[in-house]
Amino acid sequence: MITVENLRKSFGRGTNATEVLRDIDLTIPDGKWTAIVGPSGSGKSTLLNCLSGLLKPDFGHVNYDGKDLYRLKEKERSHFRRKHIGFVFQDFKLLPYYSVIDNVILPLLYDEAKQKLYEKARQILLHIGIHEQLFTRLPRSLSGGEKQRVAIARALIADPDVLVCDEPTGNLDQDNRDIITGLIDRLRNEGKTIVLVTHDMEVAKKADDIYQLTSGSLVPYEVTA
Ligand SMILES: Nc1ncnc2c1ncn2[C@@H]1O[C@H](COP(=O)(O)OP(=O)(O)O)[C@@H](O)[C@H]1O
Ligand SMILES: [Mg+2]
Repeated sequence: MITVENLRKSFGRGTNATEVLRDIDLTIPDGKWTAIVGPSGSGKSTLLNCLSGLLKPDFGHVNYDGKDLYRLKEKERSHFRRKHIGFVFQDFKLLPYYSVIDNVILPLLYDEAKQKLYEKARQILLHIGIHEQLFTRLPRSLSGGEKQRVAIARALIADPDVLVCDEPTGNLDQDNRDIITGLIDRLRNEGKTIVLVTHDMEVAKKADDIYQLTSGSLVPYEVTA
């Protein structure tokens, strides 16, 4: 379980400071899909970055099963992140000069034997519907939906418990959006904890819990039929 307590984050200093997250409390249950909606600029990415150990909040706590992420030393925190948290970005962030399969093994390249990693990557890619023929291709020759699936495979290579997705369908057309949403749904059913931000209600509606970020605070979002 992930708990966020009294989290605050501002950018800038003094009179120029903008308070983005004012007082965030959130509980993310294991094996569930939690969605956070909010307009552009409302602080969704800031919240995800704080939640996944990439950005230290000014105040408050982020706990993974009671372990306070920002009480860990920098090295321990990055080790914890690599082991437990997979991150998926809106713009995929694949390395352009690496093949599909090399992009997927990258996070563990220096930790594990390459042959074993390729086998793991192969299985994950096939599992999420990327055909073997695409493994040696460069990212630019893939469709947006395929790129995002490769990015999800990369996020899964260390078998994390938590998959954090920052507007993963923001750059996709409706068909590809539905493919990615279906895949995330399946990963949740296989036991992953999903934390996803989006401004697309069609995506958020698939989640178990939906929160809305407004004026720096989170409020439960009620879906009206
Ligand atoms: N590193 C930063 N330095 C200064 N301001 C930032 C930084 N990151 C985000 N902001 C500001 O914080 C606000 C929230 O940004 P962000 O979390 O990216 O929102 P969202 O993801 O909902 O679009 C915006 O006003 C943005 O300009
Ligand atoms: Mg954002």
